[in-house]
Amino acid sequence: MSTSKDPEIVIIGCGVSGIAAAHRLVKAGYRHVRILEATGRSGGRIKTAALGNTITEIGAAYIHGPSEKNPLFCLARDYGLLPPEALNPENQAVDVDEDPPLVPNWFSSSGQRLSAESMEPAEELFSEILDNTSKFQNPKNTSWKSVGHFMRTKAQNQAAGRWKDKDETTRQLLLSAFSTMLKFECCGSATHSMDDIDLAGFSMFKSLRGVDCTLPRGFERLIENLMSELPSDLVTYNCPVRCVHWSNTEGGLSPVTVECENGERIAADHVIVTVPLGYLKKHHSTLFHPPLPAHKLKSIETLGFGTCDKIFVEFESPWWDADCEIIYLVWEDEETVSDQVSDVSKSWIRKLVTFTVHKPSEKGSHVLCGWICGHEAEYMETLPEEEVRESITKLVRTFTGNGTITPKRILCSRWFTDPWTYGSYCHPAIGCTAKDLKNMMEPLPSQETLSQPLQVLFAGEATHPCFYSTVHGAILTGWREADRLISHYWASVSP
Ligand SMILES: Cc1cc2nc3c(=O)[nH]c(=O)nc-3n(C[C@H](O)[C@H](O)[C@H](O)COP(=O)(O)OP(=O)(O)OC[C@H]3O[C@@H](n4cnc5c(N)ncnc54)[C@H](O)[C@@H]3O)c2cc1C
Ligand SMILES: *[C@@H]1O[C@H](CO)[C@@H](O)[C@H](O)[C@H]1NC(C)=O
Ligand SMILES: *[C@@H]1O[C@H](CO)[C@@H](O)[C@H](O)[C@H]1NC(C)=O
Ligand SMILES: *[C@@H]1O[C@H](CO)[C@@H](O)[C@H](O)[C@H]1NC(C)=O
Repeated sequence: MSTSKDPEIVIIGCGVSGIAAAHRLVKAGYRHVRILEATGRSGGRIKTAALGNTITEIGAAYIHGPSEKNPLFCLARDYGLLPPEALNPENQAVDVDEDPPLVPNWFSSSGQRLSAESMEPAEELFSEILDNTSKFQNPKNTSWKSVGHFMRTKAQNQAAGRWKDKDETTRQLLLSAFSTMLKFECCGSATHSMDDIDLAGFSMFKSLRGVDCTLPRGFERLIENLMSELPSDLVTYNCPVRCVHWSNTEGGLSPVTVECENGERIAADHVIVTVPLGYLKKHHSTLFHPPLPAHKLKSIETLGFGTCDKIFVEFESPWWDADCEIIYLVWEDEETVSDQVSDVSKSWIRKLVTFTVHKPSEKGSHVLCGWICGHEAEYMETLPEEEVRESITKLVRTFTGNGTITPKRILCSRWFTDPWTYGSYCHPAIGCTAKDLKNMMEPLPSQETLSQPLQVLFAGEATHPCFYSTVHGAILTGWREADRLISHYWASVSP
């Protein structure tokens, strides 16, 4: 079949990586391309929703590194979806690692405002230690067990010497602020704790230049624009795939048969699998027949996949400063530097210590986005929304010292409970190396058989060597696998 010029190509999953792959193949003239999507919508982890008058992002919100080298930036620019400041070349040139942090408001659990200036030593120490994690790119060179172990120990060791002119209470408060930032850092990796992140693996992620921006009209506009350029019958919705039979096990003419939940069987020359790593971890044993090779399975297990959720909260009037971009809550009673709570069901709300501030809309709504991750987020997902709202109300009242502040409404994401995702995005868990991401993207069969190569290909966020966990990473993997097929056929028709 590999000499056929118009092969049957099935893409599993209509998230941005599957859409990107389809786009590339259709533009290259391939006519037998279809996407099978489990749910009734396209976009996957790109999902825009409304909270009252406010556009909120249940999934991806930011273009990380909006500059020319970012394919997502270029697409969003071409579709006219970027905010004006993102088009500014100066904005695109900023090295994010040296960028001044967001304007913070700090509150303590005794209901006091803490001045931003008084918290600067904690912010400085945090960013210095975080930067220093990049010195451990060689995994064999360190006795630190994890990013968390390194960061917690360094902070605790530095406090006395660095802050020797401060009294014990102040030093303790600064360390508590350090814990707050460590908890927020967990959200960036969608991990339960930074103790679960590999210190060498942590540096595999590469950031691009440019100050992160949002798409003011909603991230889903990107999906709509991409979909409008594809044939309208390309996607079959509400069509979960049950099993990919590869290696011609069914004895038919095609090397692969895709078996759907509804019993339909689709013959294909190539299948591009874009299901999330969370889904793969849970269902790989039934999703592939014959099973995946051992090295691939090992990497699916080693690479981490965890939960990061958002809780959007709308207030009648703001209780933060007009120029505030981020709100940090500091628990004064947590003695040691830590990013985990001791009793998840009782104290899960203690993991939520950071709110980012939505730019106020013309309609005057005041919305915060609370960030929570790990087992605490997974527990939160089991609660009714009213109970989450009550916990948020109590939290805000405690930290502002104002017993009357009441949220108007809330909206939370529930990515762990989503049966097609089982979490938010991937991270380099302990023991994870570049080899694991390489194994993730390797097509099947592993050994190139001349007659039926490239039967099953793998795209999706968790298959990018350095932009994993992002939308631009996901797009690049879709293009990569489409190009793999295109160059395969190009080579086979060339003299
Ligand atoms: C809370 C949150 C915040 C984020 N924030 C950002 C951000 O600010 N910036 C950023 O760049 N990235 C962010 N991300 C990550 C980004 O959303 C993802 O990396 C990206 O959208 C993943 O695209 P994908 O195509 O790989 O996977 P997905 O979008 O998950 O697509 C996979 C598709 O496969 C489908 N599927 C699953 N199983 C089956 C099956 N058996 N049969 C058929 N279909 C199936 C799913 O329904 C889904 O539609 C965030 C993610 C989350 C969850
Ligand atoms: C971080 O690294 C720099 C440069 O090596 C070093 O001077 C500094 O002490 C380190 N900071 C911490 C907190 O370990
Ligand atoms: C790594 O090992 C080399 C050689 O042993 C040593 O010089 C260097 O300081 C080590 N780096 C770290 C971060 O431990
Ligand atoms: C407490 O919050 C309410 C509602 O936001 C506000 O009207 C009131 O002025 C606040 N009280 C104090 C003492 O700040």
